[in-house]
Amino acid sequence: MAGTTENAPVTVTVTGAAGQIGYALLFRIASGDMLGPDTPVRLRLLEIPQAVKAAEGTAMELADCAFPTLESVDIFDDARKAFDGVGVALLVGARPRGPGMERGDLLEANGGIFGPQGEAINAGAASDVRVLVVGNPANTNALIAASHAPDVPADRFTAMTRLDHNRALSQLATKTGMPVSAIRRMTIWGNHSATQYPDVFQATIGGRPAPEVLDQHWVEHTFIPTVARRGAAIIEARGASSAASAANAAIDHVRTWVHGTPEGDWTSAAIVSDGSYGVPEGLVSSYPVVSREGRWEIVQGLELNEFSRARIDASIAELVDERDAVRDLGLL
Ligand code: NAD
Ligand code: LMR
Repeated sequence: MAGTTENAPVTVTVTGAAGQIGYALLFRIASGDMLGPDTPVRLRLLEIPQAVKAAEGTAMELADCAFPTLESVDIFDDARKAFDGVGVALLVGARPRGPGMERGDLLEANGGIFGPQGEAINAGAASDVRVLVVGNPANTNALIAASHAPDVPADRFTAMTRLDHNRALSQLATKTGMPVSAIRRMTIWGNHSATQYPDVFQATIGGRPAPEVLDQHWVEHTFIPTVARRGAAIIEARGASSAASAANAAIDHVRTWVHGTPEGDWTSAAIVSDGSYGVPEGLVSSYPVVSREGRWEIVQGLELNEFSRARIDASIAELVDERDAVRDLGLL
């Protein structure tokens, strides 16, 4: 593993490293897809003890790729050690749902993982740490982690809705015959769950307002449910939850956070609410966001019609319920 690159190395900790998303993610981080070809990466993999051996196998394969950007790989079953010095924390490790389950069914099982990991990040992370929670229920797990890291600014904790965003772009491209790159200002609001609201009212397709291009009946009855239920459709088809597309979205999220959004466009990320758009302060909700100088900013001043408002409110109500449930379980 050699270092022929220019920037200071960044420590990237990946939890659930031996899982299926971990396997799709690690090679792309190591190859420079996430932080760029000039930034050496020090990988720290966190797993439960039973899965450490499998993580060691993945580390052998990482070595065999001889990536110039990969400086080191270390494996841990102790969160405090794994997050020591972390600059980018990807919290993937959690149990995925199976066929017929809703993400809410995972609240208790997975919620318990994220408090101790938040504490470990609080104890050892770099001052500019960026945290992305992928493990479900991702928004509420991020809330739990953030609440256990009082010394880390809340805006450093995020949850992933970039996969939903990418799914929406792809559905719109297929429907209109336009390239994905012609679609801008798509937004996912709310929770990474079936209540999420994929909002096309602010979007443009080939420079035209999306509502002029799309039939509202299709948007309401086909597009929104297809995007919101895509995770379940993948589980039904593969017999396992999405992995490569989830890993790809995690790479996209961190790359945009670090390197910024293109002019004239925005993306979607679940971040800690400052109260914008009527989302209660402190909830981790998906918003339209840009990244400027390494920080997410919520796109302000959008006018929401009644249709959008009702759907955003429904997803926020679910996030409030999840927050109350984990509070009752003593996880906050
Ligand atoms: P997986 O079962 O293949 O892998 C999970 C890994 O996490 C396992 O190797 C397990 O040993 C490990 N793990 C469990 N508890 C841990 C802990 N306390 N510390 C460290 N590692 C731990 O699952 P997967 O398919 O890789 O999915 C992981 C999570 O990502 C699931 O919760 C899934 O629902 C979620 N997911 C989220 C999105 C999203 O868009 N936000 C998309 C896809 C999947
Ligand atoms: C997804 O959206 O693919 C993941 O969150 C997995 C799931 O449970 O839907």
